[in-house]
Amino acid sequence: MQLTFATPSLDRPGALALGVAEGSDLTGSAADLDKATGGAVKRAIEASRFKGKAGQILEILAPAGLKASRIVLAGIGKPEKFDGASAEKAAAGVVGRLLTGGDKDLTFAIDAPKGSKVKGAALAAHIALGAQLRSYAFIKYRTKNREEHEPTLATVTIGTSEVAAARRAWEPMRAVAEGVFLARDLVNEPPNVMSPQEFATRARQLAKLGVKVEVLGESEMQKLGMGALLGVGQGSARESQLVIMQWNGARAKKEPPVAFVGKGVCFDSGGLSLKPSGSMMGMKGDMGGAAAVTGTIRALAARKARVNAVGVIGLVENMPDGKAQRPDDVVTSMSGQTIEILNTDAEGRLVLADTLWYAQTKFKPKFVIDLATLTGAILIALGLEHAGLFSNDDKLADRIATAGSEIGEPVWRLPLSDAYDKMLKSKIADMKNISGVTHAGSIVAAQFLQRFIDKTPWAHLDIAGVAWQDGEQKPLSPGWGVGWGVRILDRLVADHYEK
Ligand code: BES
Ligand code: MN
Ligand code: ZN
Repeated sequence: MQLTFATPSLDRPGALALGVAEGSDLTGSAADLDKATGGAVKRAIEASRFKGKAGQILEILAPAGLKASRIVLAGIGKPEKFDGASAEKAAAGVVGRLLTGGDKDLTFAIDAPKGSKVKGAALAAHIALGAQLRSYAFIKYRTKNREEHEPTLATVTIGTSEVAAARRAWEPMRAVAEGVFLARDLVNEPPNVMSPQEFATRARQLAKLGVKVEVLGESEMQKLGMGALLGVGQGSARESQLVIMQWNGARAKKEPPVAFVGKGVCFDSGGLSLKPSGSMMGMKGDMGGAAAVTGTIRALAARKARVNAVGVIGLVENMPDGKAQRPDDVVTSMSGQTIEILNTDAEGRLVLADTLWYAQTKFKPKFVIDLATLTGAILIALGLEHAGLFSNDDKLADRIATAGSEIGEPVWRLPLSDAYDKMLKSKIADMKNISGVTHAGSIVAAQFLQRFIDKTPWAHLDIAGVAWQDGEQKPLSPGWGVGWGVRILDRLVADHYEK
């Protein structure tokens, strides 16, 4: 889909999208359009339940007196509440309605209502972002009925009187959208395609953007002593991989990096502690954390962020096999701590134990944030709306929470404490990988991770709920990856860590 900015005009072919604020008369472009159509806009509104509420949409087909194929009125809610995020949602709503409907061209003529929080070039750029993010489709495996699924929308023009400034504002946002799309593609690919090695191959392509990409295989990880990660991949016919992506964009070369760590379980069958078949569906998305980290590094590189950032992802496949690790096995992690495996389905924490340790000891980062589809329990606690946030550092936690609410990926902080940590005591090793009771499953998992954090400020985002819904579908059905995490991490960096 081609996005362009142009001076406002209502005289265009294709679909024409207007904003209508809640509880006010038609103004600006909407009023002009009403005049041009002999009052059709007002009549259509009166004949419907459209009130201009955020999320509402009203279409007027084949309007007389215009080139346009249709007018799409998008409710933008109360003017004083209209901000960048609402502009994104309004634009996304319009694109969602039109994407596969037949129209090839769409023009946005959404004016900032009086008293709105966003206007001018910023408004145009947010409209572009909402439109772009909603235009995503993953259809490469469809050979039939493609016309039902294939986007017809080819060009989107955003009307703005500040064309040059809008283009400048859009440039970094486009980079972020591309990072989100990469994360979605990685999650959506089926697991027979998206093996650890295939994932590593896709990550290597970031080298084109100036990212330094290094891939370690099993023998190298063996030398590093990564017994926890390697144990998980042991039952798979595919080789485990550790991918290290470095974007060095800070002015000071020696500036310590920010570090992002991702759980990359390319398929989670549960291993010998096999999942029931219903719970196994959708487990291709168990690399959503790694996908978000990869998308973030791509975004930072593409917008040439003034930051040193490193992404480290542990890529494995958790499978049952004659060679698979057993419940009761004891493994030694890179940190030297031993772990009694009591459930091979609690594998994400094992992968992260070594990946987190590697990231901290190798890079001495300013902070480390891990993203992981870690526990089903986070779905019980927070559903699909919030990611679970755990942290040993209040400042970092607050910054993440703020970034999340700014861009619309909200997080909710949950506690950590010694009392929870005790639940991991093992009879024969330094710890066990499950508590053995179902209480506080997400917290216990976070406590496990914290045992692999030295003094580095750290935050853990449990994204099992938020990472693979698409709005309508349940997370466990084969839905579309959402790329959750890319925007929040990008915003965190932009707000606090670029110099
Ligand atoms: N990948 C799963 C967590 C998950 C569940 C992600 C549902 C997305 C949707 C994780 O590896 C897992 O299996 N966790 C177990 C932990 C348990 C064995 C302590 C769980 O949540 O049941
Ligand atoms: Mn599991
Ligand atoms: Zn898992």
